Amino acid sequence: MKAVLVESYDRIENITIREVAKPELSPGMVRVRVQAAAVGFVDGLKVQGLYQTKDPLPFIPGSEFAGVVEDAAADVKGFASGTPVIGLVRNGGLAEYICAAAADLVVTPKGIDPEVGASFFANYHTALYALSSRGKLQSGETLLVLGAAGGVGIAAVQIGKLLGARVIAAASTEEKRQFAMKFGADAGLDYTRDGWRDELKELTGGHGADVIYDPVGGDLSLQAFRSIAWNGRHLVIGFASGTIPALRFNLPLLKGGALLGVDLAQIGRREPDVRDQVITQLFAWLSEKTLVPVVGKVFAFEEFHEAFKAMTTRSALGKMVVRVG
Ligand SMILES: NC(=O)c1ccc[n+]([C@@H]2O[C@H](COP(=O)([O-])OP(=O)(O)OC[C@H]3O[C@@H](n4cnc5c(N)ncnc54)[C@H](OP(=O)(O)O)[C@@H]3O)[C@@H](O)[C@H]2O)c1
Repeated sequence: MKAVLVESYDRIENITIREVAKPELSPGMVRVRVQAAAVGFVDGLKVQGLYQTKDPLPFIPGSEFAGVVEDAAADVKGFASGTPVIGLVRNGGLAEYICAAAADLVVTPKGIDPEVGASFFANYHTALYALSSRGKLQSGETLLVLGAAGGVGIAAVQIGKLLGARVIAAASTEEKRQFAMKFGADAGLDYTRDGWRDELKELTGGHGADVIYDPVGGDLSLQAFRSIAWNGRHLVIGFASGTIPALRFNLPLLKGGALLGVDLAQIGRREPDVRDQVITQLFAWLSEKTLVPVVGKVFAFEEFHEAFKAMTTRSALGKMVVRVG
């Protein structure tokens, strides 16, 4: 089968598609014919060897995919041949076939295209869990989304609106702010401009943001926390800026605000009931078409480099998807 293969931690341009052996089934595993795989920020770091943990070489990148079950190990139930599935794995999605643990797969809801299936699950799951379960976002509250045009950011814009919040989308370019507003944000904010906190103050009538959704990190997080409303919640999603900020503890005290961590990778193990509730809600919104997830740009398999480049040059609008099958 054909697969994108990372053979050395090198420039993205040097990664190629290779002919490799089709993966073997083992107990607990399901073999899926991949139709589409998504490329997120972390995938961009992994292929360059810049992620916090390095994968042994060679490896096939791609942590999110959608496809159709080809066959399953004898001990696996619920994944008959032909079942459409979405997978969230460590690696391996950018290939014609993948063997994934049944626990890492969900059955794709009806009417969901592979490009949507591959790209929405992790980001919208993160956004809904963060905003509802961690941030307790209430209808009528103000939500400030940092990095609002990125993959996980645009998901928070849409979910924030569905939860009844007033959403302020902060992003670095007019194109990105317009993109977020096209998908429901009530206002855009240029957080690269001096004085952006004054503009936020004006936009919120002096109140500040009740909930801050923060996948960016760095100095921006420290600035944003200073603009949090009393009883506000600042959700730590990630550090796309490359810098983990250090918040002085006097700020939560003075602002009456809370800093809350969000980690999609741990929800299933630590809060399985909450995970199930979040997935049920997401799939209900999808089937009612209350939620139409944003698919960023779709690339052909041979053009997979472009998907990675979009992630590493801060130019992506939404999530990048590679059509495999
Ligand atoms: N906690 C979780 O469970 C979870 C789940 C999913 C993702 N994440 C994390 O969330 C972060 C964002 O992921 P993503 O897939 O949404 O990435 P993305 O699509 O690239 O979006 C990140 C946004 O961050 C902003 N940014 C600011 N400085 C940047 C820089 N130096 N380089 C790149 N972007 C920069 C960019 O917006 P502007 O240009 O507008 O500033 C960009 O749109 C990552 O750290 C990822 O690991 C966490």
